[in-house]
Amino acid sequence: MFEATIDHGLAKPALYDALAASLASLLDGETDALANLANASGLLAETLERVNWCGFYLLRGGELVLGPFQGRPACVRIALGKGVCGTAAQKRESLVVPDVNAFPGHIACDAASRSEIVIPIVAGGALFGVLDVDSPDPGRFDDEDRSGLEHFVRVLTPRVAWEQLGCG
Ligand code: SME
Repeated sequence: MFEATIDHGLAKPALYDALAASLASLLDGETDALANLANASGLLAETLERVNWCGFYLLRGGELVLGPFQGRPACVRIALGKGVCGTAAQKRESLVVPDVNAFPGHIACDAASRSEIVIPIVAGGALFGVLDVDSPDPGRFDDEDRSGLEHFVRVLTPRVAWEQLGCG
């Protein structure tokens, strides 16, 4: 059974290196896409501090649909271009939002969320969805988190059979 051994006291670059290595090991040999996304969200929740929601929105039928996550129940469908998730997906660009209340059109799923980061999941020219991480603390995410979570998504993307999920 997989056991995470990531030291929460590590500086962010080392923490994200350890997170990426743990993810690769956690998904090794498993081909079920839903299981892999579920475990990826569990690993993030266990590793990242000051986070109240983390998980995936998947591009299905032209809109983002809630996927595996950890946190409070969330809105199920987000149109491309709407909210932080839909904007990051449409632009295919990571978005770091230090104050969600200052982001026009932010969709409040959990009233406790104060800051947010969204990383698009793109491979071979296709958009599969986004990774969304929320924090109850303002300004929780910075450029090191962006770079670390982009690395996490780069490790994840080729290990998920997105076609099993009807994504893209
Ligand atoms: N805040 C997001 C919606 C998803 S929840 O945070 C889980 C947004 O504005 O797109």
